[in-house]
Amino acid sequence: MVSSTHNLTAVSKAPDEISGMFNRIAKTYDLMNDCMTGGLHRQWKIKACKALQLQPGNTVLDVCTGTGDLAAVLSKIVGRDGLVTGIDFSESMLAIAQNRFSNLANIHWVQGDALVLPFNDNQFHGSIISFGLRNVASVHQALSEMIRVTRPGGWVVNLDTTSDCKNPLIWFYFSSLMPRLGKILSRDPKAYQYLFQSTQTFETPAIIQSYLEEMGLIHTQKIALGFGSVSIQIGQKPN
Ligand SMILES: C[S@@+](CC[C@H](N)C(=O)[O-])C[C@H]1O[C@@H](n2cnc3c(N)ncnc32)[C@H](O)[C@@H]1O
Repeated sequence: MVSSTHNLTAVSKAPDEISGMFNRIAKTYDLMNDCMTGGLHRQWKIKACKALQLQPGNTVLDVCTGTGDLAAVLSKIVGRDGLVTGIDFSESMLAIAQNRFSNLANIHWVQGDALVLPFNDNQFHGSIISFGLRNVASVHQALSEMIRVTRPGGWVVNLDTTSDCKNPLIWFYFSSLMPRLGKILSRDPKAYQYLFQSTQTFETPAIIQSYLEEMGLIHTQKIALGFGSVSIQIGQKPN
């Protein structure tokens, strides 16, 4: 049995509070991401999408798609014969995604819950979640749903912030500068305090990798990015 090494009090992950928060910050979410990471999040997202090892014509699920950054990258990878499904429970985040990428006909947007995916078993060639797992009420349930809807042979990928980054500059940035930036740009410092708190209490990449293994995935791996501030974990559903 794997347990978290952190003794911090978990932040509230009540679905209504989380979706309400994302509805409030939706309009400034993309600007904040660019400012907070100096644009680096785009490269991390491309790397995570490539880890799915998709082919043109494939189908892929982007869980907690938000404003659709990953869905747009995946849309190019699978091409016009493929299909990307982006699911999120925040109406405002999805509205921005739809508006931004209305020219990409191979993306299908769905409003729904990552913990109860409204899709068939083995439906997609791969599934991915980016900066979403930290927000769900049950990491196990979200991963197990992603694995359920992924075909045998397909990859499951998570990209998120890390709770075990040892770099003091990064912790200072997360804990102090980011809420201030959030206050200026989104006028919602609480949302960006939540970002720090949810990162602190989130499972480490090694623990998430071990969850993927416990759930039967093979060839699991974790890849550190952004000076250890973020990580990608991947695993393949056996044939
Ligand atoms: C930090 S954003 C990430 C958006 C996007 N994936 C990205 O990397 O930019 C987290 C998203 O997860 C969504 N979310 C959180 N919990 C969810 C759940 N249980 N079901 C569906 N969406 C959820 C939020 O609405 C929000 O859009």
